Amino acid sequence: MLKFRSCDVSLTFSERITLSKKTIQPAKVVAGGVAPPGDKSISHRYAMLAGIADGTSELSNFALAADCHSTLGCMRALGAEVKVERTLVRVMGRGLHGLKSSWRALDAGNSGTTMRLLSGILAGQSFTTKIGGDDSLNKRPMKRILTPLREMGAQISARDDNFAPLEIRGGKLRGIHYEMPMASAQVKSAVLLAGLFAEGETSVTEPARTRDHTELALEEFGAPIERHGLTTRIHVNGNLKLAGRKAEVPGDLSSAVFFIAAASMFPDSSLHIQGVGLNPTRTAILDVFARMGASIQMLSLRSVQGEVTGDIAVKGAQLKGGVIAGAEIPLLIDELPMLAVLGPFTEEGIEIRDASELRVKESDRIAALAENLRRMGATVEERPDGLKVAGRSAGRLRGAEIEPHGDHRIAMAFSVAALAADSPTTIRDAECAGVSYPTFYDDLARVAEG
Ligand code: S3P
Repeated sequence: MLKFRSCDVSLTFSERITLSKKTIQPAKVVAGGVAPPGDKSISHRYAMLAGIADGTSELSNFALAADCHSTLGCMRALGAEVKVERTLVRVMGRGLHGLKSSWRALDAGNSGTTMRLLSGILAGQSFTTKIGGDDSLNKRPMKRILTPLREMGAQISARDDNFAPLEIRGGKLRGIHYEMPMASAQVKSAVLLAGLFAEGETSVTEPARTRDHTELALEEFGAPIERHGLTTRIHVNGNLKLAGRKAEVPGDLSSAVFFIAAASMFPDSSLHIQGVGLNPTRTAILDVFARMGASIQMLSLRSVQGEVTGDIAVKGAQLKGGVIAGAEIPLLIDELPMLAVLGPFTEEGIEIRDASELRVKESDRIAALAENLRRMGATVEERPDGLKVAGRSAGRLRGAEIEPHGDHRIAMAFSVAALAADSPTTIRDAECAGVSYPTFYDDLARVAEG
């Protein structure tokens, strides 16, 4: 078993700085079982809808992710009563028109989903709200939601008309039809959530399929949703009420992917991943793994509040590598860091195209991937919309010091690569993994055997 030091809140600041580095030892096999924490995307949506529903919602297996706790903090500031007992969250909703104005600016932390989706809800309120985030979030583009929300009637100001902090003056909204210029589940969701407060019909057409958790969650909480191909409609006629409910959040496939990758790298691995969301708008990553020759089986499939859930069994494999591009990209955007980092462990290497969106995530992920892959000795070609990472023949990765640029998925992807490097690897600012997966290093240590 690998051993990591755990973080202790009683430590001094300088001791914590040292501890926030994690050293990861090379391993020989990945085996046993792991249950990734609740899905981040779904937890955000349930927390928001529970806050504007009538009655109490009981959300089990709610994400441990710091991002989702930012959403809970915002809903509390807007008047919803929220009680958290580890992964069980109870929300006493305020009803569709019952949110209160917050005397302080809402803090979305590092979470783009909190800021973009909540803006849709705030656009429909009869008060003004300020919402900001950390340095990374305040640099991410918001124009993409300002455009449709303004068209619906909200008045929103933003730094340089694109960046948070945002000041959202809500009010009576009008339904619109929005042809999205980009494939983004966050933009689609912001418009549909604003549609809850608009008279008449609001509809959105996406240029390519993106995750549909908002649509499924809206249906579950009782909103009138209609779906035809790439168009979703919500039709509200004045007296809509959402109903608080019990809901179980499936495990996060985007977190499970780090373990699928880790197990695939070692021929003798055998890993069982329990209780993972397998919504078809999220499983493109499993198709890519299958194409690359990974040994993955989905087991015990069931449906929980419209979300497909199941287990995944992974065995070690000789990965082939390949090209990931086009319409597939929005469906596996969060998994691209792990795929790129797997490049040096594959036969042909990995090439990612059409993914310039990676440059405006929690970090510039293309630059962060290229920089850290090079630190480990990989051969990388960085491009404006992706990167090309050479395969096994370019040599084994060496242990290195990794700079994740505060980005959880970069920290976790390189922790996995570290298992197959020739010497130990140190991850700086390792705690940033907590944005989506606070227990990641402990879970990895449990299944990676040296
Ligand atoms: C998310 C959508 C994706 C994804 C993000 C979560 C969501 O962003 O990258 O981590 O929960 O809707 P975009 O919609 O901007 O592509």
